[in-house]
Amino acid sequence: MMKKKDNKKHIVVFTGAGVSAESGLKTFRDSDGLWENYRIEEVATPEAWERNPKLVLEFYNMRRKQCMEAKPNNAHLLIAQLEKHYNVSVITQNIDDLHERAGSTNVLHLHGEIMKVRSSVDENLIYPINKWNLELGEKCEKGSQLRPHIVWFGEPVPMMEKAIEIVQTADVFIVVGSSLVVYPAAGLIFYAPTDIPKYLIDPGEFSSTITKNLIHIKKKATEGMQELYELLTKNVWV
Ligand code: OAD
Repeated sequence: MMKKKDNKKHIVVFTGAGVSAESGLKTFRDSDGLWENYRIEEVATPEAWERNPKLVLEFYNMRRKQCMEAKPNNAHLLIAQLEKHYNVSVITQNIDDLHERAGSTNVLHLHGEIMKVRSSVDENLIYPINKWNLELGEKCEKGSQLRPHIVWFGEPVPMMEKAIEIVQTADVFIVVGSSLVVYPAAGLIFYAPTDIPKYLIDPGEFSSTITKNLIHIKKKATEGMQELYELLTKNVWV
């Protein structure tokens, strides 16, 4: 995934729901966040899918509709523009495609992608979807119901190993808009080399002792990314 053919430095940007908040997509744990209005056990677990697949489909249909209506914001765009100066890997917990639409070319989705669906019997049968609604009765080529291509609570996170490898080669690590509470994803920061600069852009409160060399830019994603973009491109370490 990481190109080492030039000697540009490698920036790893780890994003959460907060990077898409200014595009109008709700976060999970802020007040009025998604988990205030839905129960995780009812919409985001394999048991929920067994019990009430219609409700699960409706929940993710709404996420897909909102994603299709949303546009990348300046934080997504600045992250994409970092590629002019650095090798950039984006690792996101988000299921939206706003990083890709902003122009980032190297995006790994840890929790799946809302614009894809997959077979419920074979996780390798993944298809793009270009309408907002997935309904009961829509089947994969093996005849099983299609489900959202999403990692649910209680399921393994298959991209984690790849993500760890990427983070271990970072020269700069940036977190944008994540509460850093959902594991294993939130643990990625601990795989970054100890002495590299690390930045966290998030308006929320965090303990100052999360990890060494961490600078908290306590701002919204667009404002914080603007500040950091200027800093990183004035001091391009190529
Ligand atoms: P959370 O909802 O837990 O956290 C959102 C973070 O975004 C908080 O730290 C907010 O302070 C911050 N935030 C809010 N507005 C912001 C803004 N305008 N700019 C920057 N930051 C802002 O979301 P995640 O950390 O992404 O998993 O949650 C991780 C996982 O939990 C999700 O991927 C999802 C969820 O349950 C699954 O569904 C598997």
